[in-house]
Amino acid sequence: MASITLNHLVKKYGDGFPAVNDISIDIADGEFIILVGPSGCGKSTLLRMIVGLEDITDGDLLINGQRVNDKAPRDRNLAMVFQNYALYPHLTVYENIAFPLRLAKGKHSEEQVDKLVTEAAATLELTDHLQRKPANLSGGQRQRVAMGRAIVRQADAFLFDEPLSNLDAKLRGQMRSEISQMQRRLGVTSVYVTHDQTEAMTLGDRVAVLKKGELQQIASPRELYEQPVNLFVAGFIGSPSMNFLPATLEGNVLRTAVGDLEIPAEKARKAAGKKVVLVGVRPEFFEDAKLVEDHKRSNGSTFMATLTHTEWLGNEQYGYINFDPAPEMRELLNNLARDMDADELRPQVVVTLDAASRIRGGREAELWLDTRKLHLFDAETGENLTRDAEAGAELTRQAGEERAEEIATAQQADGHGNGNGTGFSSGTSGRTDGAPHGQGNGAPVDAAATRSGGATAAGGKRSAG
Ligand SMILES: Nc1ncnc2c1ncn2[C@@H]1O[C@H](COP(=O)(O)OP(=O)(O)OP(=O)(O)O)[C@@H](O)[C@H]1O
Ligand SMILES: [Mg+2]
Repeated sequence: MASITLNHLVKKYGDGFPAVNDISIDIADGEFIILVGPSGCGKSTLLRMIVGLEDITDGDLLINGQRVNDKAPRDRNLAMVFQNYALYPHLTVYENIAFPLRLAKGKHSEEQVDKLVTEAAATLELTDHLQRKPANLSGGQRQRVAMGRAIVRQADAFLFDEPLSNLDAKLRGQMRSEISQMQRRLGVTSVYVTHDQTEAMTLGDRVAVLKKGELQQIASPRELYEQPVNLFVAGFIGSPSMNFLPATLEGNVLRTAVGDLEIPAEKARKAAGKKVVLVGVRPEFFEDAKLVEDHKRSNGSTFMATLTHTEWLGNEQYGYINFDPAPEMRELLNNLARDMDADELRPQVVVTLDAASRIRGGREAELWLDTRKLHLFDAETGENLTRDAEAGAELTRQAGEERAEEIATAQQADGHGNGNGTGFSSGTSGRTDGAPHGQGNGAPVDAAATRSGGATAAGGKRSAG
C-alpha cells in the first residue's frame, strides 16, 4: 500500500488549456480520497495523471516518496477499478479474478494463483460464486469481481473514475456501501472521482473539491459542510443546497429580502466594513418558531415570512420562500449562479421544518433561524468571512481518528490484524501488467495496461457507458 503525494501538479493539454492547475494533495497510506466537482473541472485528468495515462506538464507525483512522473503506468502498480464491463463474459468469476496473474506468464505457480484468488474471493464474499459467469451475477457482485482483480494484483492503490454513474439510484446506494466497507477492510489507499456530492460525502475520509482545475478545499465531509472556505464549496456540498441571501449589514443586523436578522456580534465583526454580503443559510437552520423550545430561541432570530408552498416528506417538510432582490442584488445572484455552473440562482429560500409544523403555503408565519450557524460570504471574492478554521481542522482531525478505529475494527472482524491478510503487501511481488488493450462493448480494460492510443482505460469506460 502506498501514500501518494501530488505536488503542484499542472496539466496543460495541447491547446494550452490548464485542465489541472497547481494542485497539491497529500494522500496518506490507506486513506480514501474523493475528487469531486462539476463537469470539466479536471477530476478525470487528475486521476489519469496519477495512474500514468496522462503526462504531467508540471509538478511532481510521488508514490511512497518516490517521484514517478516518468514511470510507465505498469510500473506504478496502481489499479484502476471499473465496473461490470471490465469483466470477461466467457470466463468464470475465478478466472476473471485470476486474469492479471495469468497475464504475467509464468510468474505465479498454480498454487500461488489459487491462494491469491481464494483469499481475495473470501474477502469479497465471492467464494460461493467462483464458478459462475459474470452475466449471472448482480451488479454489486460484478463490482466485487472487478475489485478482486485489483486485489490479486496487490496494487498499491485503487483508483475509481465514477464507477457507479451508470447504475440506478438504488443500486448506486448499495454499491456505495459495499465499496466503502471493502475499502475499510482492505485498508487500501483509494482515490475516487465523482461529480455526485452525496457519493463524495458518504465515501470519503477527505473530499477534495475542484473547480476549473483548481483545488478549492480538501477536508473531511463534515468540515466541508460546516466550515466551507468559500461560496463555491458551500453551494456544492449539501442537498438541498445552502441558501444564499444578499444582505446589507448594519451593526449586528442583516437586512435581507426576507426580513431583518439579528446575528451574533462576533459574526458581524468578521464582516465589518463590507457593505454587501451573501448570507449562507442551510435549510435545516430554520424552524417553525412555534416548535422551537424556549431555551433554544435565544440562539437565533425570528422573522415573519409567507411560504409559497410546503412539501411533506414524512420525517420533515420543505418550505419555500420566494423573495424579490433589489436589482443590484439580482446581478450579484446571477454572478454567483455562473460561478456555481448553474443557469440561474432562483431568488428562493428552502427551509426544512419539523414534520409536525402546521405552517402551510400562502399564510404568513413566524420562522426561527439559528443565527449561530449561518455564514457570511464576501460578495465579490466569495470568501467565507465567518469560517472558523480551527473548528474545521478539529472536525477533520476527529474524522481521521474515527477512520483509524473503523479500519481496525473492520480488519479485526476479518481476522486480518495487520491488514495484510488479503495478500496485500508493500512489496512488489506479484505485480502484473494488467489486461490487454480493449475497447468497446464487453472489452476488458485495466488502466495500468495502456498508456497511449484510443484504447485507454477511460476511453473504454466512456464507450461502454
Ligand atoms: N484530451 C484532451 N484534450 C484537450 N482538452 C481536454 C482533453 N481531455 C480533457 N480536456 C479538458 O480538460 C478539462 C478537464 O477535463 P476532465 O475530463 O478532467 O473533467 P472532469 O472533471 O472529469 O469532467 P466530467 O465530470 O465531465 O467527467 C475540460 O475542460 C476538458 O475539456
Ligand atoms: Mg471525468
